[in-house]
Amino acid sequence: MVMSNQQLQASARPVAKASGLEGVVVADTRLSHVDGERGELIIAGTRAEVLAESASFELVAERLVELATDAPHADVSVALARSRVAAYDHVSALRDSLALPDAMDALLAATAQARSGRDALSVLGALPVYVAAGERLRAGLTPIASSAQRSHAEDFLVMLGLPPDAARVRALNVYWVTVSDHSLNASTFAARVVASTGSDIVSSIAAALGALKGPLHGGAPGPVLDMLDATRDADPRIWLESELAAGRRIMGMGHRIYRVRDPRAFVFERALSRLESELAADHGAASAAIVERLAHARRVERAAEALLSERHPDRPLRANVEFYTALLLEALGIPRGLFTATFAIGRCAGWLAHIEEQRRTGKLIRPAARYIGPLPE
Ligand code: COA
Repeated sequence: MVMSNQQLQASARPVAKASGLEGVVVADTRLSHVDGERGELIIAGTRAEVLAESASFELVAERLVELATDAPHADVSVALARSRVAAYDHVSALRDSLALPDAMDALLAATAQARSGRDALSVLGALPVYVAAGERLRAGLTPIASSAQRSHAEDFLVMLGLPPDAARVRALNVYWVTVSDHSLNASTFAARVVASTGSDIVSSIAAALGALKGPLHGGAPGPVLDMLDATRDADPRIWLESELAAGRRIMGMGHRIYRVRDPRAFVFERALSRLESELAADHGAASAAIVERLAHARRVERAAEALLSERHPDRPLRANVEFYTALLLEALGIPRGLFTATFAIGRCAGWLAHIEEQRRTGKLIRPAARYIGPLPE
């Protein structure tokens, strides 16, 4: 049946526009909950700040998988350790992809190309191996082998050639636990959309990696450090004003859901202070660098908050997770170019659980668009 223009016009505007799906609920989840007004984050049934202090990343990954599958899961830390070792066996075959100049491109290419281990825990175990090996290859160094005797966090630091002392391992664990899941953020939504089509886990993770790479999502921490560098010897307000005047956003500020300071910023600030005091005895210079960065970051944060509240009095724009992620990962010695990829290693736990949760609904995600294009004569 051919529609008349009148019918087509009527059918073309049935839905109201929600350009970024703000406030639209498209899934039920048992995995995490964000209260943007109160600044609260619950992951796997526990407040993020409590979980960060009390659980290993391996345990959180296990809890997320159990919640998604509604079944007890065999010891995830053993399976993860085995997956890392198995992934390392493929490093030489994947070296061209791993050595790509951009760490996220490298991670995406290697993950998509890996011929074996395409199940959830194999993918989760492979990510730190690929990120670390890629970094070593780009620097002209030999990759360092994974060991099943180490935790996920310790193994990553060792594979990067960084000091794996207890203080740094603990801080990286806090980081990964805190970012392990965050409700329906853009990359998790991307993973769920692909999973909803019945596609495989690797394809869903590839979609999530692509979404995370964007500066409005997981690509902000590198630019946050650039901002801190640029304002080190200057009045932050003047620099921030010139960024806004050039039409750029202040990285690490603002959030789709939070209308208060991101609760993860508090967790990372605390982790930084503890790392600083733990390093003070044996690594005085590293500890002093953290103190200086933190003090400067707080000055820039206050200046950005004040400026943005003048520009947007009705829309609170406060520090988000990326602001203090930048400082924490820098304090661990992780290179700036790896910040988003390091975020991906932690968030992958949430992605995999969401993929499983989505699969169990058996429902295709396929929203509608309002047609505003030309109509046939
Ligand atoms: N710097 C300057 N202005 C900002 C801003 C920022 N960081 N974040 C939001 N705004 C402004 C927007 O320009 C917009 O202004 P307008 O109404 O005059 O056009 C207003 O605040 C609302 O922004 P909008 O893009 O509609 O909000 P959102 O919910 O879609 O965006 C983010 C959320 C995270 C994408 C946004 O805050 C942002 O771009 N932040 C910087 C990037 C970042 O840190 N990303 C990591 C997020 S965890």
